[in-house]
This record gives sequence, C-alpha cells and structure tokens, in this order.
Amino acid sequence: MPLIGDIDMAAIDVLRDRERGVPRYNEFRRQIGLKPITKFEDLTSDPQLLADLKSLYNNDIEMIDTLVGQLAEETRPEGFGFGETSFQIFILNASRRLMTDRFFTTDYTDEVYTAAGIDWVEDHTMVDVIRRHFPALAASLVGMDNAFKPWGLNMPDDYQDWSAQAKQDHLWVNGALRTSYEEGEVPAIEPIDIGGLINSVLWKKVQDVTDVAPPGYSKPIHPRGALAKVQFQSVAGHDYSGLFQGADHGLLRLSVTGDPSDRGFAPGLALKLLVDGKRSENVSALYTLSGQGDNHNIFANELSNYVQAEVNETLGTTTLFSLVSTKPTLLVMSDMAKVNQDGSAAGSVKTPTQVYFVPNPDLRNTISTAPHDFRDDLTAIPAGTKVYDVYGTDMQIKTSIWPWVTERYARERRNSAIKIGELVTRSEFTLSQFGDTGIFFKHQRYEDR
Ligand code: HEM
Repeated sequence: MPLIGDIDMAAIDVLRDRERGVPRYNEFRRQIGLKPITKFEDLTSDPQLLADLKSLYNNDIEMIDTLVGQLAEETRPEGFGFGETSFQIFILNASRRLMTDRFFTTDYTDEVYTAAGIDWVEDHTMVDVIRRHFPALAASLVGMDNAFKPWGLNMPDDYQDWSAQAKQDHLWVNGALRTSYEEGEVPAIEPIDIGGLINSVLWKKVQDVTDVAPPGYSKPIHPRGALAKVQFQSVAGHDYSGLFQGADHGLLRLSVTGDPSDRGFAPGLALKLLVDGKRSENVSALYTLSGQGDNHNIFANELSNYVQAEVNETLGTTTLFSLVSTKPTLLVMSDMAKVNQDGSAAGSVKTPTQVYFVPNPDLRNTISTAPHDFRDDLTAIPAGTKVYDVYGTDMQIKTSIWPWVTERYARERRNSAIKIGELVTRSEFTLSQFGDTGIFFKHQRYEDR
C-alpha cells in the first residue's frame, strides 16, 4: 500500500474476525449446523500443515481460527474450489440472493419478460453469452455445457460425429495449446519404461478406438514429443484410396523412443488423420527399432510403417509386441485407405503395403547431428512447412532367412515406391502435456487389415 508498504492481509483477516467476535472454526461450524471436527486430521492430510496447525494452536482444535480452518479444509463439495464450511455460507447466500430478487421469482413471467424473452433466457447459457460476445473463444468452448466448470478437454458423447475440422480444433486448442508447457518447464525425456509395456497396454494400443487416452495414462515408450497440426496433400499419379487422396485435418507427433543418452536417438512419427463423422485413422513410423545411434538430427532418415526385426535388438520390443501380433514390426494402413475425409467409403480400395516419410532436405540439412534436445528444432519450424514427402509402394513385403535377400527385397520395394503426397504443417509444433500423455494414436495390426 502507498506510504505503508506491504500489509499482511491474512493476519488482518484473522484479527478482524477475532475483534468482531466471529466464533472460532469449530464453534462456527456448530452454529451453522455442521458437525464439529474432532481431530486436526479431519481438516487435512498434509503432514506439514498438520504439524504447523497443531503447534500453532497448542493441540486445541477449539482454538483454530475460522478463516484458517476454512482454508485448510480438504473436504470440498464436488466441483468446488473451496471447502464445506465456506460452501455452507455460499449456498445460503446465493440462494437467498436469488429468492429475494423479484426478477427471478414473482416477476419471472411472460408479462415482464415477454414470451420470447423467457425463451431466450431458458434456451441460452453462459456458454452462449460468452460465444456471442467473444467469438474468438468459440473453439475453447467446444464440448462445454457449463461455463462455470473448468474449461478443458471435455470429450462429449457425440465427439465422433463432429466434422474433422471441429475435432482437430478441439484436440488442438483444448488439448495441446491449453496444456503447453511454460518456458523452462519442458520435462526431460525419460528413459524407456519397458516394464510399462504390459499386456494391457499393448492390446490397448492396437484395439482402442479413441483420440484421447484416459487421464493419468503415460506412454511407456515415446514419452516426449512435439505435436503440430498437419495436412496430407496428395499428389496426382497414384491410385491409393481414401485418406491417401488427401486429408486436410491431421495431427503429427514426432518423438524419440526414450532418453537418447540411454539407448541412442530413435525417432518416431505418429500421424492422425481426422474424418468427418467417423473415427480417425492413424499410422506410426520409425527409422529402425533401435534408432540412429548418436545422430540427434530427427530429420536424418526416412521413417516407415514397416521396419525389419533386428537380431540384437536389446530392448526386446519385437518379442513383447509378438504377444499381440504375428507381424510386430509392421503397421498396416488398410483402414486409412477405406475412408475419405468427408466420411464416405472409398470407392475402389487400394492400400500401400509400405509408406516412407522422407524428410524435407531443407530441414534435414540445417539441423545439427550433435547431442541436443530435438524438440527445440521442431518448435522453430514455422506453420506451412513441408516436413515430409510421402512415398508409397504396393509391393508385397517379403523376408528371407538370408539377410542379404531380405535387404534386396527392401531395396526393391523402396525403388518401386512413388511419391503420393506431402505432409505440411498447419501450425507450429507445440510441446504440451496433452501431446505427451493425452493424444492417442491407434496402431492397426496386420491381423486387423
Ligand atoms: C503390433 C506391434 C506393436 C505394438 C503392440 C506397439 C505398441 C506401442 C505402444 C504401447 C506405444 C506407446 C505409446 C502409446 O501408448 O501411445 C507405441 C508407440 C509408438 N509406436 Fe508402436 N507398437 C507396435 C508396432 C509398431 C511399429 C511396427 C511401428 C513403426 C514401424 C511403431 C511405431 C510407434 C511409434 C512411432 C510410437 C509413438 C507414438 C506416439 O507418438 O504417440 N510401433 N507403440
């Protein structure tokens, strides 16, 4: 305060209550019809707070000041930010305020408001009012039916029915942007959590049809990455169907399998293409299972939906993934070829057996191979950048017991691949909690093609 300097508001509040004879916390509760507490532990489970309260009030719960007790209370009515004692006061006053306002009671009539006026009040909520006055907030309010509840990523029951654009907006604005890490708070990249790759997680990855993992989910591999809005721009000259003919609303996540200083730098890509009124289709791609050693340039190599099993793969993911698929190093894309982005079924379905995400050389050539955080490279990329050329082949994927023959097959497939499109960013890359733990990319197994 001017002239006075800092003032201790909390102490003033406590003192003022005492001077005015406001009863202490427990007596206050009795007088407003709430049960008194019988021990400090009824108030809070925080050990430090408990120790402080006990020493401050000399172990006497009757001495706790009302304000202190109210702020320490852990028992909170569902959806409320304050405790039950304050809630009791709030609910009394809020309802009295309504009951004593004639415009809410006796005069809430057609005569006073007109019939149209009453309908207007009845049919609109605070969400509509905010939308009307602040159109820029429309995307932030998607899925919200109550403006007074925390705004966030609500997934309404009819989410799948929405347009691809609306779904992309929702995931982007209410998922990624809302949970972007503050400067200096970007989490370090954890090592791979092989123990987390349990049966249920593996099945979930190949079976769950959802864009968002349940709260509390964390990715045991590829825990950290960067997310951007992307568009798949198809090029003429190929007849791969469905989303391969173009998808305007996609999300791209680029990640590494785990802390590069642990097992080397192993880049991965996950692409989600959103569809009007239908579930999204997803594909993921890797360079190889074990990655690219100490080369930290995320655009150094092509990524593909098929990688060869490795003889000395130390992680053992191939073995683990074999629990759910006979072809654990292949993801198929037939679902992607079956649907168009407007939700209609593709006419004559043609699926590539293998696609190759070929990094834009302008990006590849400007990024350092030395150890550094790859996420810094990604957040520097402007919206509107072509990140990958996408090539596809329909040659059958064959392997041989002779590694050099398998190599030859792989080369032949790659040589037969033609350019089918480009992935172009439609936003900057963001680093966010949603991008790391929320967004879910289904894998399509060979068995489910
Ligand atoms: C059927 C065998 C496979 C299983 C069971 C499997 C399972 C998993 C699991 C559990 C995750 C953890 C992240 C999450 O929960 O979102 C994951 C992520 C990932 N997988 Fe697979 N995977 C398989 C095959 C493949 C193949 C063949 C590729 C590519 C060639 C691949 C590429 C990726 C990528 C890039 C990610 C990171 C996804 C993201 O950014 O969210 N996976 N996979």
